[in-house]
Amino acid sequence: TGYITLDTGFKNTGSTNSAITYLDGENGVLRYRGYPIEQLAEQSTFLEVAYLLIYGELPPKQELDNFVSEITRHTLIHEEMKKFYEGYPSKAHPMGVLASMISALSTFYPESQKSELHPAEVELTIIRLIAKISTIAAWSYKKSKGFPIMYPQNRLSYTENFLHMMFAQPTEEFNVNPVIANALDTLLILHADHEQNCSASTVRMAGSSHASLYAAISAGVCALWGPLHGGANQQVIEMLKQIHQADESIQKMVEKAKDKSSDFRLMGFGHRVYKNFDPRAKIIKQVCDEVLDELGIDDPLLDIAKSLEEVALSDSYFVDRKLYPNVDFYSGILYRAMNIPTEMFTVMFALGRLPGWIAQWKEMRDNKEPISRPRQIYTGPTERNYVDIENR
Ligand code: CMC
Repeated sequence: TGYITLDTGFKNTGSTNSAITYLDGENGVLRYRGYPIEQLAEQSTFLEVAYLLIYGELPPKQELDNFVSEITRHTLIHEEMKKFYEGYPSKAHPMGVLASMISALSTFYPESQKSELHPAEVELTIIRLIAKISTIAAWSYKKSKGFPIMYPQNRLSYTENFLHMMFAQPTEEFNVNPVIANALDTLLILHADHEQNCSASTVRMAGSSHASLYAAISAGVCALWGPLHGGANQQVIEMLKQIHQADESIQKMVEKAKDKSSDFRLMGFGHRVYKNFDPRAKIIKQVCDEVLDELGIDDPLLDIAKSLEEVALSDSYFVDRKLYPNVDFYSGILYRAMNIPTEMFTVMFALGRLPGWIAQWKEMRDNKEPISRPRQIYTGPTERNYVDIENR
């Protein structure tokens, strides 16, 4: 069967050629389709970035208007899907709800399950996914609280609509705070793609069997959920809260993270590829300062986070291993400022990452990549004979 090289965790193995995202971990560079993340975060919008990632170019105005209006028109989910929410326990983690609802979408659009792709159907699936994910996510929050769901409103922008579905009540007038909507848009842009990370690779791998795009995205949501990946943003806030409630001091937390006998890690620190700073963390830290200032919020967790960063970065353990704050370190503080509950943080990451997942899936299918099927090095017993049950 030939010679097999082993690289657990794919630390040094490329899985594909890709023209979507460029990442230079040594120098802290991140570009989507060639455009620096700093420029996109400052000047673009989330849906424009989604278009860029998926189709490869910044859209002309008419094209962008069509894309946005198509997405706006598809935000409703099938009325029958509302019933699914009744079956989840009220404490259901919204990531579990999100993964299963996205998987369930495929059952409403059976044409998406065909192996052979038709461009018009693919376009519609892409529009539906981007449109419906925010409705599914917001409703999972409403249901967990026992609040009435709010239907999307076509007059609102993508982020405004999400905030409306999250926080409006049928009994009251609700106005979206533009500072919050803009900050959310920036956060979604910063999360939109990150080349062959665990969830994107999962989407490509699941999709390589020609499972539907819905199924592949649902698999990606599940991969993102874990605390070493997107789940870290929830864990960061829990860690900062623990310090704030004086259960642990910053120094003790850092010592615990260095102790190899425990599985504990400093959440929001370290990255497989960035061995310098994470450019997204840099932008988020700055947006965090600006937004909290504009909203007049004084969050003690922000000060704790800054002190923790300082302590860690002056400790040789973190310096030697090149462990810097990553995208998840400051994002939770921004989500808190927006009143987004902690258990929804990873869902917010999924909302942002969706265009990247779609782009990765589309590239994989357009390039007709073969089914992903890694090999292994077998370490089990050599051949032995079956033993009857009475002789074991
Ligand atoms: N706290 C303490 N030690 C750490 C940490 C941390 N956060 N991260 C890595 N290390 C140590 C690790 O123990 C190892 O030490 P040694 O060489 O002595 O055995 C060394 O640094 C290298 O770590 P690794 O586990 O081999 O690195 P990796 O590339 O496999 O893991 C990571 C990358 C992001 C999973 C890891 O840094 C981590 O677990 N960080 C905490 C969770 C986190 O913040 N995840 C979000 C990542 S960014 C957004 C995303 O992808 O979703």
